[in-house]
Amino acid sequence: MSVNLKGRNLVSLKDFSTEEIWQVLKTAEQLKLGYYRNEQPKLLADKTLAMIFQKPSLRTRVSFEAGMTRLGGHAIYLSPSDIKLGERETTEDIAIVVSRYADIIMARVFGHEIVVDLAKYATVPVINGLSDEEHPCQVLADLLTIYEKRGRLEGLKFVFVGDGNNMAHSLMYGAARVGMHCTICTPEQYQPLPATVEEAQEMGRTTGARITLETDPLAAANGADVIYTDVWASMGQEDEAEKRKEAFAPYQVNAKLMSVADEQALILHCLPAHYGEEIDYQTSRTPNSVIFDEAENRLHAQNALMVLLTG
Ligand code: CP
Ligand code: NVA
Repeated sequence: MSVNLKGRNLVSLKDFSTEEIWQVLKTAEQLKLGYYRNEQPKLLADKTLAMIFQKPSLRTRVSFEAGMTRLGGHAIYLSPSDIKLGERETTEDIAIVVSRYADIIMARVFGHEIVVDLAKYATVPVINGLSDEEHPCQVLADLLTIYEKRGRLEGLKFVFVGDGNNMAHSLMYGAARVGMHCTICTPEQYQPLPATVEEAQEMGRTTGARITLETDPLAAANGADVIYTDVWASMGQEDEAEKRKEAFAPYQVNAKLMSVADEQALILHCLPAHYGEEIDYQTSRTPNSVIFDEAENRLHAQNALMVLLTG
């Protein structure tokens, strides 16, 4: 299997084909081996990554920055107050200017159209480090984690319980591409974007992945191989947090929910977690939980991505 991702953007996970996703996962496996053997080749020597943030971050910032260092390159962190995206100059000008200095741009933004525009005007690869609609880097790490633990992705029963948010969208695309059945279980009024659901369902028809919606958490989790959750109020929705707690209360990942899943079911969470809300602390610390391996895999999946995009 050989695909060429040089010069491409990763704005949405739907931009990558099944083969391209597998290329990232297989490259990540190799780089991870090197990382543990302390034999990390300096594949990004002299390369610069510009990281634009409109929102806070722990994993995304540190994993990208540490990844660049490990691979011999350099990362520049641009905080919300540095660039003032959308206030100080246009997204178009930012994309053109940063492309003159850096070899890759990673951006974490509110409106998804901002990262779409960055990719449109930049002359170097642009990576979506989370937008209101998607979080593709997280899903590459999630797929890598599930593959490492289960040895396959195709045919697994994956269940996301919580808000139909950016994670739910990228997970649907990722699952559809790799042939993993995916149920998104949310309260009725918090379902994912209908157009995204339809697109993922269409994509799934070619790989055999069934992409479905559900509102009953116990019915959704029944026999699941993977249970995934995320915060009930995402970054930018802090004002809705209290209202959301009520609607999402029956959607907590806890011992009761896990009792209907497969005994070996993996528990994933992109983090940060709000313990006692979408997941209880005890459940997050059971042997089924792989949340910290998942967080580590951000590093390996993104290293692979950066190496492939820069060729
Ligand atoms: N999962 C994730 O993207 O974490 P951060 O928001 O800390 O980057
Ligand atoms: N849905 C969450 C994901 C955080 C990694 C958010 O957007 O805040």
